[in-house]
Amino acid sequence: MAGEQYASGQRFTLEHRLTPDYFVTRLREDVLEGLADPPRSLPPKWFYDARGSELFEEITRLPEYYLTRAEQEILDARAPQIALDTAAGTLVEIGAGSSRKTRTLLDALTQAGTLERYAPLDVSTSALVEAGEALCRDYPALHVTATVTDFETELVLPHSDGPRLIAFLGSTIGNFTPVRRRDFFTALRAAMTDQDTFLLGADLVKDADVLWRAYNDSRGVTAAFNKNVLHVLNRELDADFDVDAFDHNAVWNAGQDRIEMWLRSRLTQTIKVRALDLTLEFGDGEEMLTEISTKFRREDLVAELARAGFRVREWWTDSARRFALLLAAPDGR
Ligand code: AVJ
Repeated sequence: MAGEQYASGQRFTLEHRLTPDYFVTRLREDVLEGLADPPRSLPPKWFYDARGSELFEEITRLPEYYLTRAEQEILDARAPQIALDTAAGTLVEIGAGSSRKTRTLLDALTQAGTLERYAPLDVSTSALVEAGEALCRDYPALHVTATVTDFETELVLPHSDGPRLIAFLGSTIGNFTPVRRRDFFTALRAAMTDQDTFLLGADLVKDADVLWRAYNDSRGVTAAFNKNVLHVLNRELDADFDVDAFDHNAVWNAGQDRIEMWLRSRLTQTIKVRALDLTLEFGDGEEMLTEISTKFRREDLVAELARAGFRVREWWTDSARRFALLLAAPDGR
């Protein structure tokens, strides 16, 4: 419930900033806005029910999906330096990170002796509770203040006296359009003090085949992940998508530096979304866009951040230069 506090032990608190009907209301809006008429699209956030989150975890272990391992390689190498540079008392994490990445940062900040608090922001209460309780157990001095929120709608950084390290990892930023990125960077900069630092993980433009394979894995896990959104619509909105009547299609859009994931109808078909009293007519081969995954170039990203009031202080890549982790500070610091 909005504003309700849930406390487990003395070091873990959970604040709900979303109303109980938030998700179904947002999903209805997104379907009406995105699917009712062609060109059809859905925001990628609807992939992540329990099954979708499992499938994503499986994706991160695929040989073709280098992103997670590349980012972890950089974190392993640079976490001690990040901790010393930022002297952060609070680690704020925007969006669900795998706890492995979080722990790399928490370990380094504990080692540096500055860490007091971990403040994860996420849409999933269960993910926050599970991760929070495990971290409280493994880090006996750590305070965890978790917030259930949707960073697409609001960006509220937990208050802190000392410097905060705000981490947005995993190239989730790649899901944003250029306009949304600008708004996000600007809102984040406005919420930061001069002591805070922003740590961003971003996947880089590279060989088109390598990119293509990362989103068209040979085991079909990414295809199942993409199609899972149809199961979500069937369950949540009483729709009747035949999941097997759609094909996974991930393509590299070279003009816009992004992978696009589409679902393509295998035939002419009519779908009913009963909860919305909506009928969708799909033509043979008609597609809906389910995700963009933007890949970045250093000069462009640095310039974008500069326009939002950030100065990039460090830019690190993995040894194969596939992925970047950058540390940005408010301009003028
Ligand atoms: C979690 C958004 C970073 O874009 O690579 C993985 C999601 N989609 N395979 C990405 C995803 C297909 C992932 N992000």
